[in-house]
Amino acid sequence: MIVAIDGPAASGKSSVARAVAARRQLTLLDTGAMYRAVTLDCLENNVDCSDEAAVTEIAKRAHISFDATDAGQAVLLDGRDVTGDIRTPQVDEHVSAVSAIPGVRRAMVALQRQLGANGDVIAEGRDVGTVVFPHADVKVFLTADPKARAHRRAAQRQGKDVAMDRSVQVDVKTERSVLADLIRRDRLDSTREESPLRPALDARHIDSSDLRLDEVVTQVLAAIDEVRR
Ligand code: DC
Repeated sequence: MIVAIDGPAASGKSSVARAVAARRQLTLLDTGAMYRAVTLDCLENNVDCSDEAAVTEIAKRAHISFDATDAGQAVLLDGRDVTGDIRTPQVDEHVSAVSAIPGVRRAMVALQRQLGANGDVIAEGRDVGTVVFPHADVKVFLTADPKARAHRRAAQRQGKDVAMDRSVQVDVKTERSVLADLIRRDRLDSTREESPLRPALDARHIDSSDLRLDEVVTQVLAAIDEVRR
């Protein structure tokens, strides 16, 4: 079974996918982490993220894999654990440019299909239901208004694991800068020529702005169980 969850940055895809994966024994495939790992590789090797040929070479050469650990899923770049390093503001700043490069997408999509080929997977990203797994059994397009998303991401940055809890206090300045970055990335991710962020025609839309994590998870589990029945 393949479950595809797409949506804009900080819409809750990762938290939802993680919870659903645990409840239905699915392997998690965080496709955004792969674009982030390529971006980190470029930054560490002083490769200009707008140099399409050089960035594509990095994407083709990089060995990106996932490892299940007690703390969750680790992201490995050439065997090194980069789980924390791929979530910095510098990577946030450059990842949209990197992921818009056709050669980078070709390399990542091939790897994603390979990882999805063996078994039951829940994949999350921007083009999972439209491009990577167009025949996915369940497709979800998860959205939330930009303010709700900025609040969640700002809370995460402050080390609070509060997926979808609007009552948590966050630093106003952090929230404001996160909001500006999200709006910028939304625009780049939705207007790029190659595999832009858009819902698959057969995707189920869920707006999580006013929902709790468990409410969204329940809806996705119900969609999976409907197909499995
Ligand atoms: O989900 P995320 O914020 O970790 O994703 C990081 C970036 O990667 C995001 O700005 C767009 C890009 N991305 C993509 O283009 N296609 C995907 N399937 C997943 C992510």
